[in-house]
Amino acid sequence: MGKALFISNAAQLITMADHTEQPAKKEAMSHLNLIENGSLLIEDGKVVEVGRDDDMRDKYKDRIQAAEHLDASGKVVTPGLVDPHTHLVHAGTRENEYAMRLQGQSYMDIMSAGGGIHATTRATQQAGHEQLYEESWERLQQFLIHGVTTVEAKSGYGLTLEHELKQLEVAHELQADHPVDIVSTFMGAHAIPMDEKDNPGPFVNRVIDEMIPVVAEKNLAEFNDVFCERGVFTPDQSKRILEAGKKYGLTPKIHADEIEPYEGSELAAEVGAISADHLLKASDKGIREMAAADVVGVLLPGTAFFLMAEFARGRHMIDAGLAVALSTDQNPGSSPTISLPFIMNLGCLKMGMTPEEVMTATTINAAHAIGRADEIGSLEPGKKGDVTIFDVPNHLTLSYKYGMNHVDTVVKDGQVLVAGGQLQ
Ligand code: NIG
Ligand code: FE
Repeated sequence: MGKALFISNAAQLITMADHTEQPAKKEAMSHLNLIENGSLLIEDGKVVEVGRDDDMRDKYKDRIQAAEHLDASGKVVTPGLVDPHTHLVHAGTRENEYAMRLQGQSYMDIMSAGGGIHATTRATQQAGHEQLYEESWERLQQFLIHGVTTVEAKSGYGLTLEHELKQLEVAHELQADHPVDIVSTFMGAHAIPMDEKDNPGPFVNRVIDEMIPVVAEKNLAEFNDVFCERGVFTPDQSKRILEAGKKYGLTPKIHADEIEPYEGSELAAEVGAISADHLLKASDKGIREMAAADVVGVLLPGTAFFLMAEFARGRHMIDAGLAVALSTDQNPGSSPTISLPFIMNLGCLKMGMTPEEVMTATTINAAHAIGRADEIGSLEPGKKGDVTIFDVPNHLTLSYKYGMNHVDTVVKDGQVLVAGGQLQ
């Protein structure tokens, strides 16, 4: 893994320590375990220890001497950001639909007319392996520049076994080739193919009987996600699909209560989903049930922003005891951004979250939402040496000076991949 790395003297070193066992809830979401004048030693791609600069220099004198040095004076050091919900692997863009929505057409109407997810499905089906790989690679580069070192990536623009596998295989290859870590989710149940809209039963059966077994057998995904929404998959169909995935070792995730209240949150609790995502219209009952069942609520305020919808009730959810994570939802239709820091801004300004809570929501809680809290999401001994350094004097400035990229340095597995805001 190359040379050791000593990151020294950060104005604020946000460790996010002590949340590895359980996602942070309520007041715990404000506990950043922040060290002033903090330093961090990485060896063999893993964190050795974090502490106050003088203590670290005393304790690790020789090892620090042998290491490459990165001076973080005047800057904020955080765990590499984690984006727990993206539709990374897809072809093409949909700026035409953006213009249509600005003229008053709705997202769901565009989809029912064969645009939306169907438009990207056509483009993705037509795209070759290489095109998908290259487009997705570019997005991963952009994620890195914005401080993200792990992303979850869903399929769901294939909608046939062949094309779903193509998306998942591209994600798999990118995981091998690109330094950003990718955690894969199968989402065959993202839309009902246009020509089967009036008779979705056979498609649901194909997802269950044809696609899930093959995806599991090829080991191409850890999670199984469904778009549970009126006009897409009903709660009953969603439940069947998620239960079928469980039998093959795929942990449930769910796009729940995004456009209309549809009891997706309640279903997430019932099936034991690791996360329920969107939740703009989640009911009080659904929120209580998810909190009790330890489901992580993954909120995607970029989507509400871009669809000009009402934001999820982040403040209420945290107060009700739900562990909350934040994500871009990166996709060409409802959230074409790759800026997780902008999502953090929206969490504060539009969902009533505090700067501490949005930090927790994009690090350790995001890691919990994708089952990776034992490896990433905090800077603690033994975890991956994934680190983001922001050129701001304190973490409040991240959401205060909004809409800018403050990322200075990104370290992945102990390697410096972004320096001075530029890819190396
Ligand atoms: O998470 N809601 C469903 N799926 C995506 C959007 C996909 C698309 O519009 O292409 C989402 O918002
Ligand atoms: Fe999504």
